[in-house]
Amino acid sequence: MKILGIESSCDETAAAIVENGSSLLSNVVRTQIDIHKVYGGVVPEIAARSHIEVINPVVEQALTDANLTWDEIDAIAVTYAPGLSGSLLVGTLAARTLALLKNKPLLPIHHVEAHVYANFITSQADHISLALPSQQPKFPMLALIVSGGHSQLVLFHNHGDYRLLGQTQDDAVGEAFDKVAKIIGLPYPGGPSIAEAALSGDAHKYVLPKAKMQGAYDFSFSGLKTAVLRAVQRETGVDTTYPSFKLPELLSDAQRVDFAASFQRIAIETLVDKAEVAFKAYSPASVVIAGGVAANLELRRVLQERLPLAIEYAPMQLCTDNAAMIATLGYYMAQEVEPTSPFSLDIQPSLSMTQTAWSKS
Ligand code: KG4
Ligand code: ZN
Repeated sequence: MKILGIESSCDETAAAIVENGSSLLSNVVRTQIDIHKVYGGVVPEIAARSHIEVINPVVEQALTDANLTWDEIDAIAVTYAPGLSGSLLVGTLAARTLALLKNKPLLPIHHVEAHVYANFITSQADHISLALPSQQPKFPMLALIVSGGHSQLVLFHNHGDYRLLGQTQDDAVGEAFDKVAKIIGLPYPGGPSIAEAALSGDAHKYVLPKAKMQGAYDFSFSGLKTAVLRAVQRETGVDTTYPSFKLPELLSDAQRVDFAASFQRIAIETLVDKAEVAFKAYSPASVVIAGGVAANLELRRVLQERLPLAIEYAPMQLCTDNAAMIATLGYYMAQEVEPTSPFSLDIQPSLSMTQTAWSKS
């Protein structure tokens, strides 16, 4: 079964074709990072307009790269939640129109759940050369989902059968990377630039707090971000009234990389501490990480160091937003769930994974 996935929930326009929920036949991602970089973050209206410009060519490219015609596509899977409204509208409208015109079943996909499915892609067409895991994760599977919009621990008993164990009570961890990067003067997106700067910094230079949470599996990253801001103000000798956009100029390069490394260490420890508690409580057969922050090599290293099982990581290109993960989840849903009418599929910009488990068995 070959599924065309379409993704446009934030600032990547993507289409991909995946066969039988494991084999990647094509993977097209058109990122808007360069467009949003000048504003220091994603501008929703610009994002939506950019999606409109490229969605059709991106879908066509996915078919061309996979060397397939529409006749050979069995279903279309599309992100309908969560994300930016205007961005989600473009992808869902394209998918609905194509489902109608080409007479294909339509599967609505939850973007955050789909991030986990990057880990289920274990083979690929000859023209793609990603470093893929050797086998699919086993259930029960503990998933640490860490992106620009989400930080959560989810326990999967099977496909579509999962429970949210805990999540961030304020900022997502990727959001914290992005905001801290801004405070210390590193380019957007903050995750990769902090990770790079941290390589030459002292991760123990600045003492930053780990949030104490009531829920055993809940996170908080807003306090950590504020703690970085206060420490930068202290280091540079200004008070809290000093405009924060001017702070980066006052930092030396050495201070900047030390802040990057110290922040990254605490952010990662916060995630791994909770993952370790969940691992001990539920003894999962596999552990996966998903979402943009899962591209962080230090997070991968520390998690593997702390957990007593071998973790196979998805390639970075499938951790950040893509449509391969959408098509992959679409396959497992198609085994159990009736397709949605292309006339009625609506977007759900803030739908959390608390109520989205879909397995009927
Ligand atoms: O999953 P994603 O591409 O989009 C969302 O669904 O949010 O995640 C984007 C987030 C951004 O906050 C970005 O800074 C972060 O992932 N990110 C990273 C790295 N690469 C991307 N964070 C830490 N380390 C990285 N190497
Ligand atoms: Zn994402």
